[in-house]
Amino acid sequence: MTGSDYDQWAEAYATANAEGFFNAWYEKPAMLDLLGDVSGHRILDAGCGSGPTTAALIDRGAQVSGFDLSAAMIGIARRTLPETDLRVHDLTEPLPWDDDTFDAVVASLVLHYVHDWSGPLAELHRVLTVGGRLLVSVNHPGAFPIVHPDSDYFAITEYTEDYDFAGTSVDLTFFHRPLSAMSMSFAEAGFRIAGMHEPAAHPDTPAELLPPGVEPAGRFIGFLFFDLEAL
Ligand SMILES: C[S@@+](CC[C@H](N)C(=O)[O-])C[C@H]1O[C@@H](n2cnc3c(N)ncnc32)[C@H](O)[C@@H]1O
Repeated sequence: MTGSDYDQWAEAYATANAEGFFNAWYEKPAMLDLLGDVSGHRILDAGCGSGPTTAALIDRGAQVSGFDLSAAMIGIARRTLPETDLRVHDLTEPLPWDDDTFDAVVASLVLHYVHDWSGPLAELHRVLTVGGRLLVSVNHPGAFPIVHPDSDYFAITEYTEDYDFAGTSVDLTFFHRPLSAMSMSFAEAGFRIAGMHEPAAHPDTPAELLPPGVEPAGRFIGFLFFDLEAL
């Protein structure tokens, strides 16, 4: 199973993404916070899905292009962003943009679907200007051995989990990789780790959306964020 499976549940995922805790109240606000002032910046949203981050960046004055493996997800994104450069494209293939096109790339919750990061990271580095930023969020590798206690934390491992997207039950297949493998991949592709972040839930999260055990504005092992500089 691959990321193309988002074609099967694109509408359900887009709804869950727009309203649910993990995207609307955790990942997206944290990512936008990390990006800071993007006015006038050229940004690529890699694995943009239905385009919620693309739209938020455009609202903040950025010039944004986006792509996703799923034609159905891009179809939804085009409904709300008809003027935006949005393409169906696989992150594991060479990117259809010239060298040095972007000041920043956002890769929200997409790299954990990819087994081999070397080609994708080399391509993201190529389309960034020197000094440009790559912002990545992935499933936190520290959660894997907690949820899968019989697993080997140090091995790159394919695993499947069941999720509920706005009432639709889906199986998602990811690749776990240890932190050391992530940092080595970034270094080998020519990135410097400027920061690693484990943000808290957004303070305004409605109480009924907080997952069990997560306090308002509380920290928990959810996603891990990297702020990378293209050398
Ligand atoms: C969890 S969603 C995140 C969507 C968006 N980044 C966001 O934060 O709202 C993951 C997305 O990655 C896309 N995806 C998975 N594998 C991909 C690949 N190899 N190339 C491009 N997109 C991929 C899926 O189709 C899906 O839209």
